[in-house]
Amino acid sequence: PALVRSDRPLPPRFVVPLPRPAQRTGSSVSLVQRIAEQEIIPGTRTRITGYNGTFPGPTIRAHRGQPVTVRVRNELDIGTVTHLHGGRMPPEQDGYPTDLLLPASGRTPKAIESGLAMPGRTTLAERDYAYPMDQRAATLWYHDHAMDFTGPNVYAGLAGACIISDDEERAHPLPEADRDLELVLADRSFDADAQFAYPALAPDQAYPGVHPLYLAGVLGDTILVNGAPWPVHEVSAGRYRLRWINASNARAYRLELEPGGELTQIGSDGGLLERPVRRRVITIAPGERIDTTLDFSAYPDGSRVTIRNTFGFGSTDAVMQFHVVRRIKDETHIPDRLSTVPALRREDAVRTRDFFLALELGAGHHHGAAPRPTGFLPHRWTINGLTVDTERDWATPQFGDVEIWRFTGVAAHPVHMHLVAFQVLSRNGGPIRPGDIGWKDTVDLGPLETLEVITRFDGFRGRYVMHCHNLEHEDMAMMANFTVV
Ligand code: C2O
Ligand code: CU
Repeated sequence: PALVRSDRPLPPRFVVPLPRPAQRTGSSVSLVQRIAEQEIIPGTRTRITGYNGTFPGPTIRAHRGQPVTVRVRNELDIGTVTHLHGGRMPPEQDGYPTDLLLPASGRTPKAIESGLAMPGRTTLAERDYAYPMDQRAATLWYHDHAMDFTGPNVYAGLAGACIISDDEERAHPLPEADRDLELVLADRSFDADAQFAYPALAPDQAYPGVHPLYLAGVLGDTILVNGAPWPVHEVSAGRYRLRWINASNARAYRLELEPGGELTQIGSDGGLLERPVRRRVITIAPGERIDTTLDFSAYPDGSRVTIRNTFGFGSTDAVMQFHVVRRIKDETHIPDRLSTVPALRREDAVRTRDFFLALELGAGHHHGAAPRPTGFLPHRWTINGLTVDTERDWATPQFGDVEIWRFTGVAAHPVHMHLVAFQVLSRNGGPIRPGDIGWKDTVDLGPLETLEVITRFDGFRGRYVMHCHNLEHEDMAMMANFTVV
C-alpha cells in the first residue's frame, strides 16, 4: 500500500478528546445515509458521508437472540449496500455487493448511468435489513459494501460498530458502560481545505478505481480513532475493555503500549476466547477486531499511556493516548475461563479447497464491456485467476459440511468470509500466530504465505462472498462467491 500525504499541516497528537459514537439499542434502528460536515481537524469542517451524518455511525448494541431491524435510508447520489461484518444472516440481508439501495432523490447514480455498475436486487430510497443477531457475543461492524466503490464509500465515512452481548458474557464481571469502549481505527489524509483526500480516479463515482500508484491500497498519514485524530481519553485507574476495530482501507497496525505494559486479549472477531491472553504486541489487519482489556491501575496517577503503532513511521507511529486522571474502586475481574471454543478438527473436514490470490496486470476492468475512461486502472486482483462475477460460484459447500480453505498469496491480503466464522489451522504448514486464535472471520494472509482455515457451513443456505478486505483490492475485483447448497 502507498501513502497519500496530507496537503496541510497535521493536527496535534493526543489533544482532541476521544469521541464516543451514539449508542443505539432496541429492536429497530434507523440509519440515514447523508452528507454532513464534521470537525475532525480542530477548527476545520470535513465533508463526510455518514450513517446519520456521523463518522463513525452510531454503535448498534444488540443482545443474542433479539433480532434488530436496521432501516437504512439513502439520501446520497450513489447506490449503497449495507453489510454487517461478522453477522450471520440470510443472504438477502447480508448486503450482497450488487443489491443496491438507490438514492431517495430518484436520481440514477453515475456509475449505473455509465453502465459500469451492475445493479442486482435493488431497492429505492429505503430498506430494512433484518438481523437475527442469533450468534455469540462479539464485536462486529457495519459498513458500505457497494460493488467497486467500497473503498471510497468507507473512506468517506460509511462505517460503524455493532456490539452483540449474550448471557454468558454478561455473567462475567467485565468492564461495562463508559469503561467498555469501541475504538474504530481509520487512517485518512486531508487536502488543503481539510477534506478527505482519497485518490479516486473519478471522485463523482462516474467510474471506479484509484490512481495507479495506489493499486496495492491507500494509506493515510493521519490516524483517526472514532473519527478523531490521535485522540486522548481520560480514564480512571481501573480496568477498561478496549474493542479495537480496524476499519482502515488498507492499513494494518501493530499496537504496543508506551511506557510499557500488556493488553489482555479476551476476544477476537467472533467473540470471547476460551482464556484471556496477555499480549505485549497486537497486530490487527483491515476488517479484524481484537477485544482487549487494559488495567490502568498499574500506572501512577497522571500517567499518559500511549498506544503506539509500531508498523507505522513518522506520524502514523501512534494511535491514541490514555490519561490516567483519577483513582477508583475497581470491581471488574477477568475470569480464567471466558468461554468455550470447540476446536474444529482436521479430520472433520470433508474437503480442502485452494484459493490463489494474485495480481493481474493490464487485464482491463471486470465490467469489460463498458466504455473505459482514459487513465482507467487496467489492473485487477484475482482469486484463482478470476475476478468478481455475480454469476459464478468459486465454491458450493454443502450445508453442514466442515471444509478447510487454503489461501495462498504473493502480497498481503486480509481475507474475509461472510456468513461463517472459522478457525485458523496453520500458517505455511506450521503454527498459527498469537492473533489467530478463537473464532475469526478475517485473517491476515502474509506475503508469500499459505494459510489454512477450517469452518462449518451452516446457519443459512445461499450465495455469499469471500473477498480481500484491503478495500482497494476488493474494489479491484478481488472477490469470490460461494453458495451454501
Ligand atoms: Cu467487512 Cu465483505 O466485508
Ligand atoms: Cu488483498
